[in-house]
Amino acid sequence: MLDQGEEEGVTLADDGLFPSQIIEATPDSTCQVAELLQKGAVAAFPTETVYGLGGLISSPRAIERIFTLKGRPSSNPLIVHLSSLEKVEEVAILSNRSLQDRLTRLLPLTPGPLALVLPARIDRTVSAVRAGGDTVAVRVPNHPVAAALLSAVSAPLAAPSANRSNYISPTRAQHVLTEFPHAGLLILDGGACRIGVESTVLDLCGVNPRILRYGSISRTTLEEILDEVVESPIGQESSGAGQSARSPGLSRTHYAPRTPLFLKEEWVVAPDTSKRIAWVCFSSASANRVRAQEVRVLSSQGSTDEAASRLYGVLRELDELQLDAIVVDEPPREGVGEAIRDRLYRASARISNDKVL
Ligand code: TXA
Ligand code: MG
Repeated sequence: MLDQGEEEGVTLADDGLFPSQIIEATPDSTCQVAELLQKGAVAAFPTETVYGLGGLISSPRAIERIFTLKGRPSSNPLIVHLSSLEKVEEVAILSNRSLQDRLTRLLPLTPGPLALVLPARIDRTVSAVRAGGDTVAVRVPNHPVAAALLSAVSAPLAAPSANRSNYISPTRAQHVLTEFPHAGLLILDGGACRIGVESTVLDLCGVNPRILRYGSISRTTLEEILDEVVESPIGQESSGAGQSARSPGLSRTHYAPRTPLFLKEEWVVAPDTSKRIAWVCFSSASANRVRAQEVRVLSSQGSTDEAASRLYGVLRELDELQLDAIVVDEPPREGVGEAIRDRLYRASARISNDKVL
């Protein structure tokens, strides 16, 4: 059934015509998907963070299909996935000494959940990958299936998270199928993603390295390696009418479930006991104090890493229940807690922006 890709001159299956399909990632199926990708098809694959929707960075058709499937604004660039950081010069320009020095220092963090924004070799990617800009984000995923796929394709793959724009990223193959049930999409199943939140995005183009998106590689870790790291304010929007945001994925409307989501502290100001509520806790200890129709514990022992890996799956599951609200406890501060706080803040910001309360 691996024949729904694109042969030369043949149009890919359109939305609504073919069911998408989950296939277990084996050496054979990975090679078959790699062949389809080489022909300009789009396919989903697991990484250690979230599932990605991949396509060749040199194929205008593949890149256009990624944007169309996701409903992604053309102003939001894609991350380019490489099999090794040694290949970075295939897509980026490293003429600057301090850039080379920073990359050398960051080498121990690759492969891993870190995307680096660098000056682009603009002849190597379809312009849409860079949202028409002159920088490119690169990442070397640390997942055996992603690594095998990239080396079988033998070319970089652009891969945003495999969800419709603005919704929660997928951490299981089934989540991808739910997002794109009739897209004729092959979804390589590599099980649940180990980390469960998207990579840290670090811009190395400016005077100081700048964190554009929080992930499991924390600010502290980056500061230990690179001396001065600056952060983008949460909710940074485009700098002016008609201009692209520095990192459009930082928009405050990202990563949100459809059910109104409240951080616990916000919920205190708007209690309404007639509403059907789900409460999400970070440990069993805090769940004991909660009264709600649905209660979910992200980690019985209160492990932040386990909570991160389960968060998106739990939010997706609760979103199916047609509740009035999802309330989430105060997230932990340490480690990947930084990224969890960031995502939850954005998800809840959508509510205040839309004035649902
Ligand atoms: O963990 C991840 O990074 C996952 C997996 C599949 O690798 N991918 C992912 O991609 O989260 P996406 O497209 O959903 O998020 C990419 C983020 C967006 O916030 C985007 O704005 C930013 O990276 N980005 C991409 N290219 C950029 C560039 N040239 N300059 C600034 N930000 C960029
Ligand atoms: Mg995304």
